[in-house]
Amino acid sequence: MEQLQNILGQALAQFQSTADEAELEQIKARFLGKEGSLTVLLKGLGKLSAEERPAAGARINQTKQTIEAALQARRDELRQDRLTRQLAAESLDVTLPGRGLASGGLHPVTQTLARIENLFHSLGFAIASGPEIEHDFYNFTALNIPENHPARAMHDTFYLDPEHVLRTHTSPVQIRYMESHQPPLKIISPGKVYRVDSDATHSPMFHQVEGLWVDEQVSFANLKGVVQDFLQRFFERDDLRVRFRPSFFPFTEPSAEMDMSWGDGWLEIGGCGMVHPNVLRHVNIDSEKYLGFAFGLGVERLAMLRYGVNDLRLFYESDLRFLKQFN
Ligand code: FA5
Repeated sequence: MEQLQNILGQALAQFQSTADEAELEQIKARFLGKEGSLTVLLKGLGKLSAEERPAAGARINQTKQTIEAALQARRDELRQDRLTRQLAAESLDVTLPGRGLASGGLHPVTQTLARIENLFHSLGFAIASGPEIEHDFYNFTALNIPENHPARAMHDTFYLDPEHVLRTHTSPVQIRYMESHQPPLKIISPGKVYRVDSDATHSPMFHQVEGLWVDEQVSFANLKGVVQDFLQRFFERDDLRVRFRPSFFPFTEPSAEMDMSWGDGWLEIGGCGMVHPNVLRHVNIDSEKYLGFAFGLGVERLAMLRYGVNDLRLFYESDLRFLKQFN
């Protein structure tokens, strides 16, 4: 009995003496493990007489249960302490005011490009692209603008080296596409272009959309129809009129500049014409069999007209007061 009381006393005291869960399990082994003091007592029951054995066994078992219950209580206590500490350390004040999410939006020129692509897509045009750093050959020579030709001066060109330029228009994509595809061809090519140019309606970087349709029976009438159809849908105005003014581009013949009606007057939005036979020859397309038209539209001009913006530079000043109006 005395021994049992001792063991119980030690066990209860030692359980309380630690605040460490792993250590608690080691302490448990001292009493209840294989070599534990209580286990040794139980094993010793055999040495008692048959009369003493049941009562002693019952007492030992009772003590064992008391120790196990105390152990479990201490385990729960330590676990609870740990959780409380953890909760305090990782606490989150959900009543703090939020930081607020600034909502973004697509740039008006990006929105305009998407609208242009959708409309031409619905007219059956595929979308092609080309590099912004372009070889002089694609930007000029293959477009029937040989070296030293005065037409090169029409574009104020950013030269990277004597052979490479920042493309001055999207027309070189015509060449690249025709080099790798056979007619019938029907594509648009939207993208950035660059010129040494800067005022309210000209910026050094701007966007064009090139259009190209080459087939056996493509006429200037088709060109007029496609452009007019596109512009009427783009501006959602059936009464919008388009005017074609004779002009000159080395890569088209005949060539025209396109104006659209706006208020009481007209506004220039791009150039166009029938693909010049020399251009077709450069890409080995039979100019006796195939005809094509091409056009190049200024995207910022279309965006300015659609949104009523009077200075093109506003698009590129990154002024949030301006940009937020397009969200
Ligand atoms: C061309 O660039 C021709 N490649 C267009 C073309 C394509 C003609 C296919 C025939 C066949 P142009 O230099 O006129 O043409 O430019 C076309 C349009 O780009 C202009 O009408 C104008 O809307 C726009 N544009 C030209 N320069 C600038 C600039 N600096 N900033 C903003 N838009 C410009």
